Amino acid sequence: MHILLGVSSGIAIYKAVDLVSKLRKENYQIDVIMSENASKLISPTVFSAVGNCNVYTNTFDLNNGWIIHTELSQKADVFVLAPATANSIAKIAAGLADNLLTTIALAIPNKTPKILVPTMNTRMYENPITKRNINILKDNGWYVIEPEEGLLACGEIGKGRYPENQKIVETIKFLTAPKILKDKKVLITAGPTRENIDPIRYISNYSSGKMGYSIAKVAKRLGAYTCLISGPTCLEKPFLIDEFVNVESAQEMYEKVLEKFSNFDIIIMTAAVADFKIKNTSANKIKKENFNFILELERTVDILSELGKIKRKNQILVGFAAETENVIEYGKEKLVKKNADFIIANNAKEVMGKDFTKVYVISKEKILEVEGSKEKVAAEIFKIIV
Ligand SMILES: Cc1cc2nc3c(=O)[nH]c(=O)nc-3n(C[C@H](O)[C@H](O)[C@H](O)COP(=O)(O)O)c2cc1C
Repeated sequence: MHILLGVSSGIAIYKAVDLVSKLRKENYQIDVIMSENASKLISPTVFSAVGNCNVYTNTFDLNNGWIIHTELSQKADVFVLAPATANSIAKIAAGLADNLLTTIALAIPNKTPKILVPTMNTRMYENPITKRNINILKDNGWYVIEPEEGLLACGEIGKGRYPENQKIVETIKFLTAPKILKDKKVLITAGPTRENIDPIRYISNYSSGKMGYSIAKVAKRLGAYTCLISGPTCLEKPFLIDEFVNVESAQEMYEKVLEKFSNFDIIIMTAAVADFKIKNTSANKIKKENFNFILELERTVDILSELGKIKRKNQILVGFAAETENVIEYGKEKLVKKNADFIIANNAKEVMGKDFTKVYVISKEKILEVEGSKEKVAAEIFKIIV
C-alpha cells in the first residue's frame, strides 16, 4: 500500500515526521511531497531518513522524463495532506497548481482516498474563508480530520491543533479496508469489570481491553456500525467507532448489553466479566483495624448465557474463553453451554495484556487457530464469521 504524504508549512510539521515514522512501522510504502515553504521549516532530509523514502519539492525536477506529479498521483493508494496550511487548502480549493504539492493534489484521481489535516491558528481556522475552502474539499471527496482544541504554538488556546497521528493512521486503514461488514451492526464488550468491596476498593482482573478494542477498530474499518461497551481500561477510545459506553461492574455491563442487544447483528463478548461480586459490600471504607473482615462472594450475572437464551436466528453470538488449561476442551464446552455461534478460546496466561495473541476460533463445524497482532486476529475472526 502506497501513501503519498503532502506536507505544507504549518508549525505542526514536526509531528508529520512522527507520522512518517508510524507509517513506516506499519509497512506502508511512502513518498513525501513538501511545499517549498515547508522545506524552510524542516529539511527534506529528515523526512527521507525517518520514512526511508523519497522526498520531492520541485515540480520541474524531472528525472529522465519521469514527470513527478503525474506519476506519483497515479501510484498513490491514499493521499494525505498533513499538516495542511490555510494557504495550501485555499489553493487546492481554487484549483491552483503553482507548486508540486498543489499540482499533485489536483492530479490525484477522484477514486483515490484523500485525507486533509488542517492545522493553524484558531482565527485562521474559524475564518469563514478557510471554512468555505475546507467545505469545498469535503464536497470534492476529501476526508477531513478536524483539528483539536488546546494550546497552540502561537500561545493562544483554541481549535487548530494537529490531531494524534494514530487518528490519521486509523483513518487510512478505515478508508482502504474492504467493507465486508457493510450494513452490519457489531456490538462488542471489552476490558475487565470492577466489583466494589467498599467505596474505595474493588476486585477485578488483569484484562487490558486490547483484544476488544482491536475488534471494535477492525469492525469499523470493515464497514460495520460499531458499538463498544467497555469496562475500565487505560486505552484510548477508538477514534472512528459509532458508540462508546463506559461501565464499571458486571451488572452495569449486563444492563447496557441488554439495552443494545436486539439492534445488533454480530455480538462479540470479549470482556473479562467478573464471575463473582461482593455480597457484603460496605457502604463506608473498611478500616484496617477491622482485619478479620471476611469477604463473601456471590455469582454475577452470566452475560453470555443470558444472551444465548434470547438470541435470534439472524444474530451471531461470539464469546471469548480465557482459560489457563485445557483451552480447546473448555472452549468447546462453553460453545454448547452458552448457545454461542463461536467461542474464541485463548490461554490467558500467555496473551492477557499483550499486543499479540493466539486464539482458537471454535464453531460447531470446526476449530481454526489464528495467531498474530490483536488487530490481525480481529480481522481474521471477522473473515471467519462472515
Ligand atoms: C513559524 C510559522 C508557523 C506557521 N504555522 C502555520 C500553521 O500552523 N498553519 C498555517 O496555515 N499557516 C502557518 N504559517 C503560515 C504559512 O507558512 C504560510 O501561509 C505559507 O505561505 C504557507 O505556504 P504553503 O502552504 O505552501 O506551505 C506559519 C508560518 C510560520 C513562519
